Amino acid sequence: MLTEVMATRYVTPLREGGSLPGIVEADDLGTYVMKFTGAGQGRKTLVAEVICGQLGRRLGLRVPELVQIQLDPVIGLSEPDQEVQELLKASGGLNLGMDFLPGSIGFDPLAYEVDAREAGRVVWFDALINNVDRSWRNPNMLVWHGELWLIDHGATMIWHHNWPGARASAAKPYDASDHALAPFGPDVEAAAAELAPLVTEELLTEAAADVPDEWLVDEPGFDSTDALRRAYVETLLARADGIHERITLDEPSRPRPSQAPGWLTDHLTPWPHPTKQKDENR
Ligand SMILES: Nc1ncnc2c1ncn2[C@@H]1O[C@H](COP(=O)(O)OP(=O)(O)OP(=O)(O)O)[C@@H](O)[C@H]1O
Ligand SMILES: [Mg+2]
Repeated sequence: MLTEVMATRYVTPLREGGSLPGIVEADDLGTYVMKFTGAGQGRKTLVAEVICGQLGRRLGLRVPELVQIQLDPVIGLSEPDQEVQELLKASGGLNLGMDFLPGSIGFDPLAYEVDAREAGRVVWFDALINNVDRSWRNPNMLVWHGELWLIDHGATMIWHHNWPGARASAAKPYDASDHALAPFGPDVEAAAAELAPLVTEELLTEAAADVPDEWLVDEPGFDSTDALRRAYVETLLARADGIHERITLDEPSRPRPSQAPGWLTDHLTPWPHPTKQKDENR
């Protein structure tokens, strides 16, 4: 079970997130990025965040700690933004929190270099969970204290939107051509050798056990939340088998523009940056 905390203050919305996550403070004095049950994306997004986040951390990848947050919508009464007010009102009860990494910056492939080994581990993990949301357009990775952190696993396990076809869908290949780490020559063979043996039924069962029951109840086709948890475990277990052989890494569809400000890329870029080249030509 995830640690449970109570939200004490709604600090601010994170407008760059499509689901309008917010920063909240909680009664354990922690600060969290909160994903709301009342958001349009629905509770399956939160289920995916928990299973994949917990799995990633158990595999040794850096994922900020997850907690379940009790929300009393009354804490948002003074919030001036109508959209935020409505989201808070619709999200009373249990929500998801991710430890807020203060001072982290969004991953930029021109400002931060990742070695082939680490890139391989992330791409292999994303293939396993079928993450379609770690592209160069929207990397969903943060750099914090000089290290890469993985966030936002809501758009994974696409098969859980259609359980009857889950097995067939889980056997499909993973196209990593647009993956934010594709340019770093991800060594997926090494990652498979290291990580695949760790993806056992026990480990997956632990990750699935962390999902609160109330996000799993009444799923059509399942007579209990445990049966649904087992379906997640079995589908991921089947997918883990030989997934690295089904990863395709072709040319990315477009060049990857840097989003980082020049002062950042000039200091950190591992290869010639446009601003640097300009200086050199002077
Ligand atoms: N743990 C964290 N620490 C610091 N900042 C974070 C954290 N989690 C998310 N953020 C910031 O909030 C933004 C939105 O978060 P996230 O991507 O999880 O939300 P989302 O609504 O699922 O987004 P998307 O639009 O990608 O679907 C991130 O791009 C990042 O800038
Ligand atoms: Mg995101």
